[in-house]
Amino acid sequence: MILHPDVQSRALADINAVCGDNIPSFEHKPLLPYIEATYREVFRWQPIGPLGLPHVASQDDVYEGYLILKGPHIYTKGSISRRGPLSQASQFTLERHLTAERKLKDEPLAGHFGFGFGRRICPGRHFAELTLWAAVVSILSTVRITKAKPSEGIDIPVIPEYTAGLAVQPKPFACAITSINLQSVEHMSRIA
Ligand code: HEM
Repeated sequence: MILHPDVQSRALADINAVCGDNIPSFEHKPLLPYIEATYREVFRWQPIGPLGLPHVASQDDVYEGYLILKGPHIYTKGSISRRGPLSQASQFTLERHLTAERKLKDEPLAGHFGFGFGRRICPGRHFAELTLWAAVVSILSTVRITKAKPSEGIDIPVIPEYTAGLAVQPKPFACAITSINLQSVEHMSRIA
């Protein structure tokens, strides 16, 4: 959100237009395609497990002409979501999840490569998707995330760097988190 303040502003405008003074809840989900496109794009752009989880064939197999040996680890590569020309694939672009009429494309996150494939696909994916939605909409509707400003006129730049490994996460970065309005803060503390 720090790297794409325009996305953050647009998302908040949509939440305000749909929810008014109410805290967003699951009944608003179908009415907020831009929020859905936001977390789908985060998930595509930086999948949590870019290598998937390793699998092993229990016997030699031939699949579409390829010999798959029993034994070695096979990685399905969740980062396949970055297929296509690099210049486009590495861009954070919400529009790829929306139709020309600004409706969501019929590609739910639960079908995403980031949850694995086939018989061993993540059984928690629907629960995970709803949890992500609730987290994203709660954060966007209550706080604004910006670059940290140690003093007037000075912003600490954010360089998008990630840890390496099976599960990746952003490396620590400085930011400022400010409440959008006190009513929301009160509600959040009641939930907590
Ligand atoms: C954003 C959150 C999550 C991501 C990115 C994720 C991703 C994955 C991936 C990539 C796999 C491996 C699939 C494969 O082997 O091809 C997996 C397996 C699994 N996930 Fe998740 N998961 C998430 C949340 C959850 C949640 C919330 C639960 C439970 C409530 C869950 C339960 C499991 C289980 C039990 C497996 C093993 C399935 C098996 O081996 O048959 N996951 N997940």
